[in-house]
Amino acid sequence: MDEGEIVTPYMKPLELFKNKELVTICAPMVRYSKLAFRSLVRKYGCDLCFTPMIISDCFIQSIRARHSDFTTCKEDRPLVVQFAASKGEDWAQATKLVAPYCDGVDLNCGCPQRWAMAEGYGACLIHKPHLVADMIHQTRNTVTDPDFTVSIKIRLHKDYKHTVDFARQMEAAGASFITVHGRTQDQRGDPVCLEAIADIKSALQIPVVANGDVRSMDDAHRIHHVTGVDGVMAARGMLENPAMYAGYKTTPQECVKDWVNIALKTGTHFTCFHHHLIYMLEKSLSRGERKYFNILGSTSGVLTYLTEKYKMEFSRSFYINLISRECNIIGWQTVIRIVIIIWQNMIKILIIILIIICTVVIKIHHISPSCFRNSAIGDNIHKDEKYELTQE
Ligand SMILES: Cc1cc2nc3c(=O)[nH]c(=O)nc-3n(C[C@H](O)[C@H](O)[C@H](O)COP(=O)(O)O)c2cc1C
Repeated sequence: MDEGEIVTPYMKPLELFKNKELVTICAPMVRYSKLAFRSLVRKYGCDLCFTPMIISDCFIQSIRARHSDFTTCKEDRPLVVQFAASKGEDWAQATKLVAPYCDGVDLNCGCPQRWAMAEGYGACLIHKPHLVADMIHQTRNTVTDPDFTVSIKIRLHKDYKHTVDFARQMEAAGASFITVHGRTQDQRGDPVCLEAIADIKSALQIPVVANGDVRSMDDAHRIHHVTGVDGVMAARGMLENPAMYAGYKTTPQECVKDWVNIALKTGTHFTCFHHHLIYMLEKSLSRGERKYFNILGSTSGVLTYLTEKYKMEFSRSFYINLISRECNIIGWQTVIRIVIIIWQNMIKILIIILIIICTVVIKIHHISPSCFRNSAIGDNIHKDEKYELTQE
């Protein structure tokens, strides 16, 4: 997307929090919450999307990292770009680069993975309130637009009263909103602590978003009711059912079809395309079917499966695009398109060839008697000439 490209009107994050009772958010998900998936969930009632976490120092240093980690388009709004950072300068510099293409940046203060903590990223930051406050301050000062959000996503401290204090300090430092994953860094499948989220919400003036185990709109409404939060954020729930925020209990077929269309149109890598389908179809396939589907290794294999199992139909132009996309050799694409068009119109072409052959045959048939006659006459003339010659 070019800077300054015209974007159709939409509500920015703070406007959403102001105008909607409950803002529905797609979580940052490494490898998953990319442009294609964001386009899909936006079609199904998701108000705000986060990019996957991007490591800020690599992003600043390498143009290659910038191209591979961040892709967007003018329809991809409102958008928050999430960063992993351990220093204010890194987060602020990375923010400067993405600010023209998004509506806010977020700092990951919740990742519990060991590698992240060793680098000073993620959940270890909730134990460094002064550092995070300074990071927010620096980043806030890089963007002049007051509607541009600078937010953080956190986990709970073991004693969540510390999380309430931490959140208050971040609000004072200028955080625009805070997302709380209601578990500590050591908890995985444990129930989400809604009590902690409710306490954080009532201690702050800025919007608070609840995260953890939002798997349906029923969950979203229940969590909203119990905690009073301004928004809900879902990760695994979105992967299993990207249409969740539109009220669907399981992924509707239309949504699967939309994913196939969007993913192939945007050139999504097969692994990502396939993994999303594995999540989406998990509930509708039996164990045996899942085993079979999960080991499919090509786009055509997946499409054949979907067509046979769900009777899904895709348009002709879809297949033309698919084949020419898969043949990655520029130049050959045109040839392949022509071959496909010929193949699709084979009957018409055969009829035309037949008509041409018939016309030629009939013409020959009309010409041949006179030809023979002429040659006979010719013979005669020849003979007559011979005769005349001999007479002379
Ligand atoms: C595949 C996957 C990737 C994730 N990547 C990120 C990430 O990049 N940044 C982040 O803050 N959290 C990340 N998370 C954590 C989620 O955003 C979320 O906090 C967590 O999964 C709990 O929400 P859920 O119960 O809705 O899944 C990821 C989770 C999953 C399942």
